[in-house]
Amino acid sequence: MKIRLDPLRGMRDLVAPESEELYYLKKKFSEVATRYGYEPIILPTLELFDLFSIKSGPEIKNSMYVFSDKRGRQVCLRPEFTAGVARAYLRLMRDKPKPIKLYYIGQAFRYEEPQAGRYREFFQAGVEYLGDPSINADIELLLLIRDYYKMVGLDNYKVKIGNIGIYRHLFSVWGIPEETQDLIIHYLDKKEVEKALSLVREYSASGQTLIEELMSISSSEPEEVKEQVSRLRLDSKSLEELERTIKILELSKKLGVGNSYVDLGFARGLAYYTGFIFEVTVPDVTFSIGGGGRYDKLISLYGGEDLPATGFALGLDRMLLVLDNRGWQLPEKKVKVVLIALVNYTVEVDQVATAFRNAGCVVDVRVVTKKKVGEVLGDAVERGYEYAVFLGEKEIREGTLTIKNLREKAQKTVKTDNLEEVLYELLRESK
Ligand code: HAM
Repeated sequence: MKIRLDPLRGMRDLVAPESEELYYLKKKFSEVATRYGYEPIILPTLELFDLFSIKSGPEIKNSMYVFSDKRGRQVCLRPEFTAGVARAYLRLMRDKPKPIKLYYIGQAFRYEEPQAGRYREFFQAGVEYLGDPSINADIELLLLIRDYYKMVGLDNYKVKIGNIGIYRHLFSVWGIPEETQDLIIHYLDKKEVEKALSLVREYSASGQTLIEELMSISSSEPEEVKEQVSRLRLDSKSLEELERTIKILELSKKLGVGNSYVDLGFARGLAYYTGFIFEVTVPDVTFSIGGGGRYDKLISLYGGEDLPATGFALGLDRMLLVLDNRGWQLPEKKVKVVLIALVNYTVEVDQVATAFRNAGCVVDVRVVTKKKVGEVLGDAVERGYEYAVFLGEKEIREGTLTIKNLREKAQKTVKTDNLEEVLYELLRESK
């Protein structure tokens, strides 16, 4: 049988350097989230379709991988993590003191039309902050993103801040049922504004103008946003939401969160958002590289108590695409050493390899015959290895090692009894 070798459309085989870079981005995310007091949560890849179908929004719902399992249950590959976190919270964490701060890194699946930066299987790194209704939690999300990007070297990004709560509130006042609200918000997200407004008109004749005015509010200056808001006639609940939005903008500017700005003209695809929403963009690409917001009703929708919550997810593949196009290189390059053992694995080979590894080097042990040495060296140079260390019977007998600098071709023989000093020199020289 001939097996098809290409992965399915929108799926990828990732090898070095991309695979190494992706691992690096994951590692750094877990580092920064941990520093902020978030704990990791690991969720199933496969969930019941119902979990996501309730509040995912039409776009994501239509792009889910859904199928029946052997017992005929409708299951799906997770298109995102927030719904799974809410489910796991209800099952495992209800009695825990609040707030609960969780982070995750993993694959999500969406059957979308693939293109650069849009895959059917992609990596998200995100956090969920459960149990704090205040903007302090929202701000913390932005700070975490700020620190993460700084850590990995991604600059020149923008944070677009919006608020879906104002619209939801007005829609409710005008008697628009929640399902229709979701549809209007979906149209707004797809920039099909006329479709959205025509639905609004069915419930409120004057509503359309107010929605249009609100949607045109946009500025990076808090004072300007205040001035634009002051021209509108709004009820106290809408004003309260707007004040929160302005406060988030003020704070994120003060705290150096990218180039932040308010834009009330955007919505997000997921239907569970209830207030603050945001998206992260870079000038290099048209799609967002991260997004999130507040979803204060999701836990109660799943049968739990009223639990305010906020969170975000970053698209790691998209981040990597941007970083690579900007000529980014892995910042934590390790010294790579190929240890050419001309004897079978022995205690001595292991001791030398361990000493180099403990000093922070990458050590690839190759047990070879003399005839193969040239080939292994050529391969090591091609794979970016800097040093070759030779260990044969003679070296073991004499307690020595031969170290070859593969770039400069220089070679020296050293004693193994003062390996620490040798390694110190080697690491200094390779910097
Ligand atoms: P989302 O905006 O649907 O939000 O996805 C977050 C990020 O995942 C996007 O900004 C993008 O970088 C990446 N992404 C989405 N789809 C694809 C794709 N097909 N290919 C590559 N990358 C993609 C959420 O998923 C929410 N769960 C975020 C959240 C957490 N809100 C509250 N808590």
